[in-house]
Amino acid sequence: MSTNAELIAIGNEVLLSNYRQAPIVLDHGKGCELWDVEGRRFLDLYGGIAVSALGHAHPALVHALQTQAGKLLHASNLVWNEPAVLLARKLVGLTRPAAGGPPALARAFLCNSGTEAMEACVKLARRHAFLKGETQRTRFVAFKNSFHGRSMGALPLTGTPKYWEGFGADLERVVHVDFGQLDQVRTYLEAHPREVCGIVVEPVQGEGGVLPAQPGFLAGLRALADEFGALLIVDEIQTGIGRTGRWFGYQHAGITPDMIPLAKGLGGGMPIGAMLVKESLNGVLGPGTHGTTFGGNPIACAAALAVLETMEKDDLVARAAETGEYLSSKLREVAKKLPGVFDGERGVGLLRGLIMARGVEARQMLAAARDKGVLLSVASERVLRVTPPLVIERATIDEAITAIEAAAATITVPSPRDTQPSR
Ligand SMILES: Cc1ncc(COP(=O)(O)O)c(C=O)c1O
Repeated sequence: MSTNAELIAIGNEVLLSNYRQAPIVLDHGKGCELWDVEGRRFLDLYGGIAVSALGHAHPALVHALQTQAGKLLHASNLVWNEPAVLLARKLVGLTRPAAGGPPALARAFLCNSGTEAMEACVKLARRHAFLKGETQRTRFVAFKNSFHGRSMGALPLTGTPKYWEGFGADLERVVHVDFGQLDQVRTYLEAHPREVCGIVVEPVQGEGGVLPAQPGFLAGLRALADEFGALLIVDEIQTGIGRTGRWFGYQHAGITPDMIPLAKGLGGGMPIGAMLVKESLNGVLGPGTHGTTFGGNPIACAAALAVLETMEKDDLVARAAETGEYLSSKLREVAKKLPGVFDGERGVGLLRGLIMARGVEARQMLAAARDKGVLLSVASERVLRVTPPLVIERATIDEAITAIEAAAATITVPSPRDTQPSR
């Protein structure tokens, strides 16, 4: 058996140095607990960045993977396969309005990651305009501080300049306006009539610091998209699959997007993405126009199906809403107790952010919490993101909160004259 240090030394030599990994090598997990290769236990409050919806080694997911692995791992898109068909049916069914009727988003394109799902949305929006003869309609409206992925199609939508630098992102075709400012969207659309093919928005800006959209914002975007002939793309990659206490973040706003990209929680840890679109958009990407070898891969789809069925059976979406409230109240208590370190909390469901006080970096707290046995992630420089598996129990939250409080007590609080305003 190798130690953390031995494996990290090898990794540092042979893996591309594009990540800033914590100095631990995870080995295995069970529920919301994880162990590194040296047997040290951690509580999972980051969920693999909002991915591990069912926690680790969930029996239903393990069973689905083992069964499918023994049957058929890969088929390609030259043929149909059962898990892909059943997953697509299940996914579109989740967009059925509460009042009944057909699914709001009736067609699924299956792929392998969030970025790929977003890329598909970009291509579909552009081609939709092209097929209507509106060849000048190639631009997107997106928002400052957003994150939509890092491929050359998704990257320019991402509204955080540090991700663009040196990559030749096609920023000409995207305008980034302030998140929440409908008047800025309108101003741009009025100045560029018939040029915008899509408006892209996160219901909660995740990577940008866990910033929920203001009430009425998504509905306002829906109305503007309709008025100006653009498609509304709601990026549900982080907010989808129950994370916010509804199946999809847009459902809180009572609107229907034209398309949503999904990934993260969908596979419960297996890499899979999906784009769901309205029935009227089926046909825009006709045979041969778009695809991917691994998309709809049977084992990834079997995993996603097991995740969705388990979530339904165990009522995990409602539980995420309830547990999210509990987590929020506990984080608020900690923030109140330690105003030198924290400046409050925010979020929806089990997508929460603990805001750092002026002068305290989220990375400092991240390391301190890890030292006390709790794994978290950061979202912007000032926000510690809390995205546990949706199966997390109150007792685990309590244990984690005690550890976070102990970790916060080890942070050196800067003197007021050294501080910067927090965003
Ligand atoms: C809102 C949002 N969009 C897109 C992405 C990119 O997804 P992926 O990392 O699976 O490519 C992410 C990932 O963090 C995300 O949070």
